[in-house]
Amino acid sequence: MTDLLLRGVQLADGSHRDLALRGELLVDPADLGPGHRTVAADGLIGLPGLVDLHTHLRQPGGEDAETVASGTRAAARGGYTACFAMANTDPVADTAEAVSHLAELGRREGWAEVVPVGAITKGLAGQELAELGLMHRAGVNLFSDDGRCVQNAQVMRRALEYVSDFGGVLAQHSQDDDLAGPTACCHESAIGGRLGLPPWPAAAESVIVARDIELARLTGGRLHVCHVSSAESVELIRWAKARQLPVTAEVTPHHLLLGTAELEGYDTTYKVNPPLRTDEHIEALRQGLVDGVIDAVATDHAPHTPEDKDHPFDVARPGMIGLEQALAVVIETMVASGRLDWSGLVERMSTAPARIGRVADRQGRPLEPGQPANLVLIDPSRRQVVDRAASWSQARNNPYHGRDLPDPVLATFWRGRATYGWDNL
Ligand code: DOR
Repeated sequence: MTDLLLRGVQLADGSHRDLALRGELLVDPADLGPGHRTVAADGLIGLPGLVDLHTHLRQPGGEDAETVASGTRAAARGGYTACFAMANTDPVADTAEAVSHLAELGRREGWAEVVPVGAITKGLAGQELAELGLMHRAGVNLFSDDGRCVQNAQVMRRALEYVSDFGGVLAQHSQDDDLAGPTACCHESAIGGRLGLPPWPAAAESVIVARDIELARLTGGRLHVCHVSSAESVELIRWAKARQLPVTAEVTPHHLLLGTAELEGYDTTYKVNPPLRTDEHIEALRQGLVDGVIDAVATDHAPHTPEDKDHPFDVARPGMIGLEQALAVVIETMVASGRLDWSGLVERMSTAPARIGRVADRQGRPLEPGQPANLVLIDPSRRQVVDRAASWSQARNNPYHGRDLPDPVLATFWRGRATYGWDNL
């Protein structure tokens, strides 16, 4: 690894600094060896590497859609230095062996840190608790049945009690299966009725959010609400936070930008759980993110093969990719409009996710000497028309295809190594 000096980088707080990378660390520029490379980085902004709390890497079992290698390359392209890999793989990551295997795969093949998420229930079946304690001993702190919601309140209660012993977090995919059944695929709304698509009402999310907040209060266990999509959920989380309950939440880039109108053409790229919603919900999500009611942006990067998407809308697989354009979408929706500054963006895309996922000892760190060299260099003025064929992800279900968006990421460094963009400097 060549030592590197990035001269005149603007940091999130607006100050300018020379950043020196030696080995895996940021160091004082005076400590660089004579053979280092110097890059004039005036005009570029340096941010701590982004941390994604919600990534589907699909390995094992779904390698035709994505792998640890391809998914983390997409992550590096998007400015990420860590991904929490969801447990709905095949086999499910519900044992210590499975999560250890994934962590090892990440160390061998990852272009970013791969942090395994353990399942809450065996096989994601919602009945019996998975090996929560053993998985924790294997390094897991975040547990989720994501893709499915833990329907049974007693199972959720027991899981919250169990993980509260060691400070674990349950990340819930909030979806009541009676209110939003297996074919539900469009926000319940006038447009959904006109399109004739089975309704996925906002209340199917918020009734679970309300229930789980009560269970977090009862047990003291930490609840993290995945991919919040409705105004009512935001209000419930606001209520919980006002009472200092142990609740955190995330919103996806696609729910911040895209709405129900995308479904007009029945393009299954836009089928996602929870569904895209209407303007009033989008505005509530943006405001929730500004207020800190929603702590983090998380991608829910959900790669699928064309075969899994090439079906009638109500039977196609739900999910869209997001790692490569997440930062662009947050800049477009939140920073360009002045609702978030760079420090606010760093908090929501790096610091808070690292804290929630318990990796704050090495991710989401300030860009200071002695810290791990995990950072992304951006030029927010660069733009591109997104082309799904140019994706670093193996998958092509990119909802931003054809859109004019920022293309900010110039280079990403993870533990001092350029995982993306060395040639751009
Ligand atoms: O649309 C979704 N797809 N939402 C989820 O929660 C899971 C994901 C997947 O795994 O494909």
